[in-house]
Amino acid sequence: MASSVHLVSVPSFRRREISSSHRNFRKSITFTSVKKSVSVSCAAIPSESAQAAPEKPEIELEFIGPKPGADGPYPVDRATAISGEKLLRNIMLDNKIELYAAYGKVMNCGGGGSCGTCIVEIVDGKDLLNERTNTELRYLKKKPESWRLACQTIVGNKENSGKVVVQRLPQWKK
Ligand code: FES
Repeated sequence: MASSVHLVSVPSFRRREISSSHRNFRKSITFTSVKKSVSVSCAAIPSESAQAAPEKPEIELEFIGPKPGADGPYPVDRATAISGEKLLRNIMLDNKIELYAAYGKVMNCGGGGSCGTCIVEIVDGKDLLNERTNTELRYLKKKPESWRLACQTIVGNKENSGKVVVQRLPQWKK
């Protein structure tokens, strides 16, 4: 028995499969929808929120190396940070500025304030930092007042700006 299938063109559908079996005369037709892409363009409308936000105050940082370089002077690294947003430790690590001595490199507490290995000396700009925390008071009890734990030291207070000079590894300084 002959079978025939008439396909009618349907605008948004496409013929996918037609099968026929001579044994049971089963026929199946499957249609799948045809995706049409529509492009829409719209012009950017300037609004007040799109205007540039006022710039946040920044702290400029200078890091002095613990030993003079081969050519004489102490090496200096520089970085900037948004005031009051980061700990000194994180600024140093983000900028790949060496913070720890040999032991601290492998045994530091990850900034938890429990190892005391992230010592720095604030040579200038200490007023731009937070006060010594209780953790620092405990670890730095017998150390000079200018020494801080970098993981406890917040750089800036969100409003101030200026320059902080940091001596790296003051315990190594010659
Ligand atoms: S990283 Fe351990 S006390 Fe600062």
